[in-house]
Amino acid sequence: MQTLFVELGERRYPIFIGHTLDASSLLAPYIKAKQVMIVTNTTVAALYLEKYTLQFEQLGKSVATCILPDGEKYKDFGHLHLIFDALLQAGFNRDCTIVALGGGVIGDMAGYAAASFQRGVNFIQIPTTLLSQVDSSVGGKTGINHPLGKNMIGAFKQPEAVIADMAVLDTLPPRELSAGMAEVIKYALLCDAEFLLWLEQNMSKLMAGDADLLAQAVYRCCAHKARIVANDETEKGERALLNLGHTFGHAIESYLGYGTWLHGEAVATGMVMAAELSARQGWIDTVDVQRIQQIILAANLPIVSPAIPLEQFLNYMSHDKKVLDGQLRLILLKQLGKAVITNEFDQNALIAAIQAHQQAA
Ligand code: NAD
Ligand code: GLY
Repeated sequence: MQTLFVELGERRYPIFIGHTLDASSLLAPYIKAKQVMIVTNTTVAALYLEKYTLQFEQLGKSVATCILPDGEKYKDFGHLHLIFDALLQAGFNRDCTIVALGGGVIGDMAGYAAASFQRGVNFIQIPTTLLSQVDSSVGGKTGINHPLGKNMIGAFKQPEAVIADMAVLDTLPPRELSAGMAEVIKYALLCDAEFLLWLEQNMSKLMAGDADLLAQAVYRCCAHKARIVANDETEKGERALLNLGHTFGHAIESYLGYGTWLHGEAVATGMVMAAELSARQGWIDTVDVQRIQQIILAANLPIVSPAIPLEQFLNYMSHDKKVLDGQLRLILLKQLGKAVITNEFDQNALIAAIQAHQQAA
């Protein structure tokens, strides 16, 4: 097992990364509360709830559970309310701990519940998808969707600890593994060119579920995220780089309807569009764009979006949270392994980059 820390002063917390980890002993110092509420969904509950309930009971905790339906479409106010119902019905108070057991949907919802229940209670992340292990469980962004926009309601709420156990990835559907791999590739492109080479050498084994290699990849991604979050917890600057490919990806997701393409699939194609625009700006070479496409294809991810009317695509992009004073800012590549946030790009090059990676209408 390896341990990393997110260095946030008094709110410093560990990320434990390994295989078949014992939550009981690892979390003992981080759960002072007697009352533990495990928030999960129907799919993950069937696989792992009993195991984790037993581990918390071994710690002498009184464990209650809240099992939500599975899906991004339930990441809403109504289902957040079910977590509060469960907490109140179980008679939990301010010194309880909420445990998020699941992927990014559960982590974001349970975290937001922890940020707001009785003005804030402790919480623990046990991420069970690759995406949540390398990204959403670390850094404290929590929240729910609003009918008018994804992740529009939320709070920064750091966990007390994160446990990323490779054993749970055994049951992850291949399409979800690929979606998580998009976020892994993202770290390589934005800040770690050596990691890109490593991914190129190891992608087939990673996609076959090699647990040692997956643990190495999760560690490297979490190390980058921990550093970036420690520097810029509330996204005043550097943290926005973690959104490489996301503005393009959100346009694809919004047009298709959330859930048609997985988030990671949309981010993958979005990263190709961002790379294409970077090349058209003269910052990277076309061979770099081809290299990015190859690694994305090797992770069984798409490099071309369905045909989307340009006006609609640009309109969805303009709703991005990074828009400042009405100006669209994008994360682009100055070189492989070096991303920047910038509004200095040519509008015609942007349009050409989008159109170059769309199916013909
Ligand atoms: P998800 O939580 O919907 O999980 C994907 C699917 O895998 C679900 O059907 C889930 O039930 C299933 N699953 C989870 N673990 C499993 C396991 N071990 N075995 C079998 N099935 C399993 O999706 P996700 O990709 O983990 O997360 C996406 C969400 O994360 C989005 O809502 C996105 O907005 C959010 N997100 C948040 C941040 C952040 O910083 N907070 C960052 C990135 C994404
Ligand atoms: N996933 C982007 C962030 O945590 O900032």
